[in-house]
Amino acid sequence: MLARATVEYPLLTPKPNWAEQHPAEWWEATKKAIRQILRTGKASALDIKGIGLSGQMHGSVFLDSKGRVIRPALLWCDQRTQAECDEITAAFGFKGLLRLTCNPALTGFTAPKILWLKKHEPRNWERVRKILLPKDYIRFLLTGEFATELSDASGTLLFDVKKRRWSEAVLSRLNVSRELLPECYESPEISGRITPRASRETGLAVGTPVVGGGGDQAAGAVGNGIVVPGIISAVVGTSGVLFAFSDKPEYDPKGRLHTFCHAVPGKWHMMGVTLAAGGSFRWLRDTLCEEEIALARRKRVDPYEIMTSKAAEIRPGSEGLVFLPYLIGERTPYPDPHARGVFLGLTLRHQKAHLIRSVMEGVTFSLRDSLEIMKSLHIPIKEIRASGGGGKSKLWRQIQADVFGAEVVTINVDEGPAFGVALLASVATGAFSSVQEACAETIRIVSRTSPHSERVQRYEEYYRIYRSLYPTLRESFRRIADLS
Ligand code: XUL
Repeated sequence: MLARATVEYPLLTPKPNWAEQHPAEWWEATKKAIRQILRTGKASALDIKGIGLSGQMHGSVFLDSKGRVIRPALLWCDQRTQAECDEITAAFGFKGLLRLTCNPALTGFTAPKILWLKKHEPRNWERVRKILLPKDYIRFLLTGEFATELSDASGTLLFDVKKRRWSEAVLSRLNVSRELLPECYESPEISGRITPRASRETGLAVGTPVVGGGGDQAAGAVGNGIVVPGIISAVVGTSGVLFAFSDKPEYDPKGRLHTFCHAVPGKWHMMGVTLAAGGSFRWLRDTLCEEEIALARRKRVDPYEIMTSKAAEIRPGSEGLVFLPYLIGERTPYPDPHARGVFLGLTLRHQKAHLIRSVMEGVTFSLRDSLEIMKSLHIPIKEIRASGGGGKSKLWRQIQADVFGAEVVTINVDEGPAFGVALLASVATGAFSSVQEACAETIRIVSRTSPHSERVQRYEEYYRIYRSLYPTLRESFRRIADLS
């Protein structure tokens, strides 16, 4: 890797459980990040052979006839669309929808967002001429093309994941015109080129190819080398994902895991999603850890480092404190927009350090839920690669090994999706002959964390308690949602 740049933008929550962003802010951030990279002098615009795009999945960018954004995008973690999900499920039947799209209707997906707009903002709906996913809006501004690729299209619920094309059956039943949707490419295919206008705005060279790329999970999986059976990844980003490669478009008959097209041509993947994984940890930092943030500033380290060093002093199980990470509802294994976060077992003895450790443990228990589903579906699991925040922290790696009861490894690159799409761009522009080859040439294991049998036993007990909590609390979550 030659250079990296990151630019943040805000999340809007106009109502509880709503989550939106202004696509214009993504574009501003993209332009800034590209200029920062070019300014480092590590690569000139003409050195750039190809560009890969990745981004948050499922978001809805609604464009008018002139390509202007009509309203802020509804995001993957927005929970306003349960009524629309119920409508979609009723239209196809739970099993019928799984047969058509390999997935159930979930509030985060794109199709229910479209129905929501039709119903609640009919004036906006009338103006819609194109619907794009977040990274594909950036593609449109870079290349002038309306295009997507299969991994991200899979998360719209408008896609025939088995046949790798838009589903005519779903589109016609939901009354969504095919014209509104972009062209679909495989991930390592060129989808367009930098326009003169984009070149002026970003500093990139006119004509530079922009390749399909991938939704953040499929792209991250390429960046982690999850491109062959048996290797799975445990990613703690904002969301937490357990991700497995699949040769065939198999799906969970109960719809708890998602089955999407992989960024590897002709392949698929299955994944379980914890909505607030790193998101729970960030929430804890921002609400309770002012002191740690201040100390981190003085020491010039990341506040998470200070937080995890405190958590490391607490015994596994956080002395009887169990955290449920459902801060923005949940997807796997409980697709429930009303689910809420919980600390169970607080006593006077518990200090902030216990809360920190218990959040790390609760998020890991949630990933274990996905692991158990994968095991029950006989998905081969030979190696677990940890990445994102959960892979960077030594303590979090150990907690994962102990909670999973399995060795957890990390690899030499930690850029995840950005590295994945750089590989996809390299394949599309001829530097490697396949995605598998690109991964094999660039990725190697650099650390191994083994489970410790006593802690595995201890966490087994805690995991049983964790698992028993949601079913007990479901009704209370619903009642709280009605009250607030
Ligand atoms: C995947 C998912 C998240 C988002 C944001 O289904 O919803 O990974 O893409 O990270």
